[in-house]
Amino acid sequence: MGFPKIRMRRLRSSETMRRLVRETSLSVDDLVYPLFIREGEGLKKPIKSMADCFHFSPDSVATEAAQVAAMGIPAVLLFGLPSKKDEIGSEAWAEDGVVQRAIKEIKKATTQLLVITDICLCAYTESGHCGIIKDGKIDNDATCELLAKVALSHAQAGADIVAPSDMMDGRVRYIREALEENGFHETAIMSYAAKYASAFYGPFRDAAESAPAFGDRKTYQMDPANSKQAMAEIALDIEEGADIVMVKPALCFLDIIHRAKQRFDCPVAAYNVSGEYMMLNTAARAGLLDKDSAMMEMLHSIKRAGADIIITYFARAAAKLLQQKSR
Ligand code: PBG
Repeated sequence: MGFPKIRMRRLRSSETMRRLVRETSLSVDDLVYPLFIREGEGLKKPIKSMADCFHFSPDSVATEAAQVAAMGIPAVLLFGLPSKKDEIGSEAWAEDGVVQRAIKEIKKATTQLLVITDICLCAYTESGHCGIIKDGKIDNDATCELLAKVALSHAQAGADIVAPSDMMDGRVRYIREALEENGFHETAIMSYAAKYASAFYGPFRDAAESAPAFGDRKTYQMDPANSKQAMAEIALDIEEGADIVMVKPALCFLDIIHRAKQRFDCPVAAYNVSGEYMMLNTAARAGLLDKDSAMMEMLHSIKRAGADIIITYFARAAAKLLQQKSR
């Protein structure tokens, strides 16, 4: 038995053979492209901490989104940078806030794109925390009420999917109730269900100007040493009304993605975060590795682990490569 009857290399002998037996295929349908929006007009300004990423104004993000849709990418994920911050993050649910206006502009520019919005307060509060502060602590339930207002205002502006990223307990329930009570029966919730307190958000916090002014996020985001707890978080979010659950970050948490996919029947999303993106970009710029192949290897690993949806700053670049390959 075994060798020489079995030679594993037979099935690796040519690219055509490898294509035939490939177990995991990445598709443009799997990708979500994150976009950053701030006040201004005709703005498309490079973000220092994140290569090939930009700050857009609500008008110019529509042009970008239309291009993303034309590439076949099914969805964008919007992050807002308000012009002013306060204690409770009130710009986050302002009817004329940057995200609310961007949603409307994008919907005017294209009908072929799902608009997902990040629901959180960290970019909107003076503290830079994802919740509001009472007696030096994050007030969980009061924060949930505000998050529901944010989600509702995004749904009213036309968002297809709202994505709470704050990690407060019960926020999915508050959001689902607010949506149902106001007739938004079709607005989906993609919850950042298993979101870890990770160092890999560094470049994003610079891009979104959302770093905490004091302390860290460890009382609400998960301890990277835990995996059972991730399953409990995901189960709770599904019970509270999440349609899609997310694991974040992706690369240090491929085991969590895998477990989530095996255990739950709803779509599992994974967030290939800013630090993962910039590690690869920085190494490629230093001439240490080939960017395109490293990017595809990274994205395949996330898909292979079990992700149905991959949120990635590489979405445009990956979609372009996938298009070239299919021609
Ligand atoms: C907001 C939020 C963060 C990210 C997405 N939504 C930052 C954080 O929690 O500190 C990180 C995304 C990335 O690093 O690409 N809560």
